[in-house]
Amino acid sequence: MTTARVSTSSGAGADGHTRRRLGIGLIGFGWLGQAHSRSMQRIRTLFPEREFDPELVICSDVVPARAEEAVGSFGYRRATEDWRAVVDDPEVDAVVIAAPNSLHVEVIEAAAEAGKDIFCEKPVGGTPADTARAERAARRAGAITGVGYNYRWAPLVRYAAELVREGKLGQVTNYRARFFSMYGSDPLGVLSWRYRREEGHGVTTDLLSHAVDLAHMLVGPIVRVVGSSKTFIPERPLHDPAAGTHYGRGRPGDPVGEVTNEDYAAMLCEFENGGRGTFETARTLIGPESQMAFDLYGSRGALGWNLERMNELRLCLATDERHSGYTTVFGGDRFPHHGRFAPGSANGIGFEDLIVIEDYEFCRSVLEGRSHRPGFEDALAAVSVQAALLESERSGCWEPVVSLRED
Ligand SMILES: NC(=O)c1ccc[n+]([C@@H]2O[C@H](COP(=O)([O-])OP(=O)(O)OC[C@H]3O[C@@H](n4cnc5c(N)ncnc54)[C@H](O)[C@@H]3O)[C@@H](O)[C@H]2O)c1
Repeated sequence: MTTARVSTSSGAGADGHTRRRLGIGLIGFGWLGQAHSRSMQRIRTLFPEREFDPELVICSDVVPARAEEAVGSFGYRRATEDWRAVVDDPEVDAVVIAAPNSLHVEVIEAAAEAGKDIFCEKPVGGTPADTARAERAARRAGAITGVGYNYRWAPLVRYAAELVREGKLGQVTNYRARFFSMYGSDPLGVLSWRYRREEGHGVTTDLLSHAVDLAHMLVGPIVRVVGSSKTFIPERPLHDPAAGTHYGRGRPGDPVGEVTNEDYAAMLCEFENGGRGTFETARTLIGPESQMAFDLYGSRGALGWNLERMNELRLCLATDERHSGYTTVFGGDRFPHHGRFAPGSANGIGFEDLIVIEDYEFCRSVLEGRSHRPGFEDALAAVSVQAALLESERSGCWEPVVSLRED
């Protein structure tokens, strides 16, 4: 979209700034829905230079107690169990989708048709085909889109991208990515929508999408892959819909159901720049807790980052042969946005702070009426790699990455 859709002015605030209101409608008030709601509220105190005020207009969740909490504790004006009421609400400028993946495409098509701008949690759909449909609908409607690839916004990840862009590491030849999460390591972890193929793929959707998106940002497009996947825990306790889905636990003896998508996926890949990469993602390993991590190697240096230590960047610059090996760069207010949350150096920021940055940047793009990165185009690029990996699993061969973009 080239013109901003946000129309209503909220007038001058106590600090003298004139800001426009930006009506937010949110669908899915679980972990990430609540994180986005808090983040939209925190924008007011963390970004004094902003030209907008996000307003929490309406929230939808199928669990009535959650919808009520959205109004009672988070300050939404209204709540509903019907997501269509969010999409149709005239006071909503941007729809934020944090519902289960299988619902994404239907909501996006309706929101695009209603003329809303759209932020969708990754991966934008349960399958690559869903993502392609969603991207097409939003593009055709001219919607501004954003995707929850929140690790892009980590200040030290942005610094890593800057170092690569400026050529400080030379030519990037190798890349190693992993996303090892513990959320499925306990066999008593409940059989939520995450584990059912009929509601989407497993870790290739949930975790690989983050890892591939970061690789695309840091190194560039992936052009060819060979991969493999596996389900290690074949059944889990049935799920109470009102309970958490990532970390909810059943009890021994509870009735169980079958896990029908993958717990683990790995791939070897080739980048367009000639570099080579390896990717591993798993949700059932014991040991790693949230290792969303990468190592990047260039002809003049290397760096590495790991969410478990998100305020540290390991850096090796081969500029002085006496200083070989890695040094640790601590996060601090000299890196993008860090100082909004904590002044000085090595006063760490956290997971949800990245969501605040992500929401601020998305809202700014909406206000200014310009296209946003990462948007649905980036989600499409990530699932095109996912589709090649799934194809390679079937064929047992290397597979080219073919864009799934629909005309
Ligand atoms: N960016 C990240 O780091 C990150 C982390 C976790 C989850 N996610 C993504 O966020 C999304 C939500 O994940 P989550 O962990 O918050 O899941 P969750 O299961 O905790 O929350 C989903 C919520 O959606 C509600 N819901 C289900 N059907 C609905 C419907 N028809 N209408 C309205 N609400 C409905 C559920 O009741 C629940 O409250 C997923 O797309 C997931 O991939 C992203």
